[in-house]
Amino acid sequence: EPIGHLQLAANADLYLIAPASANTIAKLAAGMADNLLTSCALAAACPVVVAPAMNDRMYAHPATQTNLRTLGERGLRIVEPGVGRLASKGEEGVGRLAEPAQLLAACEEALAAVGEGANEQGSSTSPASWRGVKVLVTAGGTREPLDSVRFLGNRSSGRMGLALAQAAAARGADVTVIAANVSLAQAADVRWLAVGSAAELQRACEQEFPACDVLLMAAAVADFAPSAPVGGKIKKAERGHLELVLEPTPDVLAGLSAKRRADQTVVGFAAEHGNGAVDRGRDKLAAKGLDAVVVNDISRADIGFDVDANEVTILAAGPDGGALTSTHVPRAGKAQVADAVLDAVESLRRGR
Ligand code: CTP
Repeated sequence: EPIGHLQLAANADLYLIAPASANTIAKLAAGMADNLLTSCALAAACPVVVAPAMNDRMYAHPATQTNLRTLGERGLRIVEPGVGRLASKGEEGVGRLAEPAQLLAACEEALAAVGEGANEQGSSTSPASWRGVKVLVTAGGTREPLDSVRFLGNRSSGRMGLALAQAAAARGADVTVIAANVSLAQAADVRWLAVGSAAELQRACEQEFPACDVLLMAAAVADFAPSAPVGGKIKKAERGHLELVLEPTPDVLAGLSAKRRADQTVVGFAAEHGNGAVDRGRDKLAAKGLDAVVVNDISRADIGFDVDANEVTILAAGPDGGALTSTHVPRAGKAQVADAVLDAVESLRRGR
């Protein structure tokens, strides 16, 4: 009590088998339940995604191909393996496990298909509801070089920006991510532009902003950068002590917002410390000419920087310059917070 494998399968929203060997695929096709993996698969009521990985001759064998067809006909989703170097030394061919971004995309598609069923029962957001909307997301944290090996950076990992990008893509939007030093796996269905410093981020933003309908400015942009970065490496033997002179960087968001068209929606993020966070967020919304600002309290270790959860307050301008609306999103996964932000954007766009 409870029966372990049934409990595991019952608690899952999705079951991904990656890598799935030829042997496991054969067992799944035969409906066998001789280990935890196969018994869970048999008991699963959620979508099952199978990512084959094996030697190319095993993959091409008619037995494996027939088994995969059988699984596909039963509604399991198969993520085709890639071509390239295989685990056996010196061998190349079809059979490499799909890349993480492809696995993630397959899981998202499988979950969206479940969501489509749920939407038919009344939810407002269909996966295609943002079709044709161009969304520009900035993610991560900029790095300002001191010399050729060192930089001034910040703790932003890019998780929130990536969650926004994935949520927008799941709603059918065309998404471009300007990623400042993000080392997370790229989402499969977004355009990705990598940048390093605040100046590079500014150049990319200025290039991309005119074509976008929605800007979600989640990146943590340096406010100051060394005024004279050194070309080589600063040597400790040559200096008794080191004093850094920093210069303010341009406020990228305020600059974009000053040039915005009336049909664009501009959302900023406010990283605030402790009491009065929402008030300071409100000031930023006004000062930077934003439609909405997402305020998070960076004094808390359980939300925000480099963790998977966040808790935010979304302040959004009312229609025709009316009173601000404030929506508190209690601590939740960044995917859920991203959905709440997109819901707010959707209301702003409807109110135009
Ligand atoms: N931002 C920007 N360019 C900068 C600094 C910030 O575009 N040089 C953007 C951020 O991406 C974010 C918003 O402005 O969307 C607010 O950033 P935040 O760091 O909270 O505030 P700052 O304006 O930098 O003010 P402070 O650090 O003093 O709170």
